[in-house]
Amino acid sequence: MMELSKRYGVFFLLICLFLSLASQLSLARPSRKLKPCKHIVLYMHDIIFKGNNSANATEAAATSPVGLGPFSFGQVSIFDDPMTKDQNLHSPPVARAQGFYFYDMKTAPSAWFAYTLVFNSTEYKGTINVMGSDFIPAKTRYLSVVGGTGDFFMTRGIVELQTGGFVLYEYFRLKMDVKLYECY
Ligand SMILES: *[C@@H]1O[C@H](CO)[C@@H](O)[C@H](O)[C@H]1NC(C)=O
Ligand SMILES: *[C@@H]1O[C@H](CO)[C@@H](O)[C@H](O)[C@H]1NC(C)=O
Ligand SMILES: *[C@@H]1O[C@H](CO)[C@@H](O)[C@H](O)[C@H]1NC(C)=O
Repeated sequence: MMELSKRYGVFFLLICLFLSLASQLSLARPSRKLKPCKHIVLYMHDIIFKGNNSANATEAAATSPVGLGPFSFGQVSIFDDPMTKDQNLHSPPVARAQGFYFYDMKTAPSAWFAYTLVFNSTEYKGTINVMGSDFIPAKTRYLSVVGGTGDFFMTRGIVELQTGGFVLYEYFRLKMDVKLYECY
């Protein structure tokens, strides 16, 4: 009889452990109703360096495409782009996007981005670090906010990316919906 109640005791403990784990897992899963604690909309302006526009260029290819497919596979481009609050290239920048992307698909135009949004204004001081895949034909692409500093200390979230406009091989504009879900 003693043995039996001991066994039931262990069983009961296991059930409790399982239930508490299950409730923690359901809390950790992002809910559809989750609202960002901070939402910033910015436009990135990228002017491609063509050899004779060094006064205005903000991006340069650091490697040539390797010739695998027609979508510049293997080309790495480095950028230091102004970010504005509206679509106008000549609006005063409120941040810079500094980083790189490389073309990563043989069969489609697709890039992989890693960059830092650097804020140094009266409104915000700090950085937001972003990375992820940019499948260019998709209307909206989702990148991960993997961390931050300063006013964005330890932040996490996503960036919704949309192409705002482009002139092939010269200029492109990306709309970034920065949605932060962890703010301290
Ligand atoms: C740069 O070179 C291209 C091609 O040769 C030419 O069309 C363009 O006008 C030049 N731009 C400047 C600013 O010199
Ligand atoms: C650089 O931009 C300025 C202002 O938009 C423009 O007047 C100038 O022609 C541009 N220069 C070059 C080399 O593209
Ligand atoms: C930020 O702005 C201040 C004041 O304009 C300047 O002194 C400082 O060098 C800037 N820092 C960066 C990283 O741009």
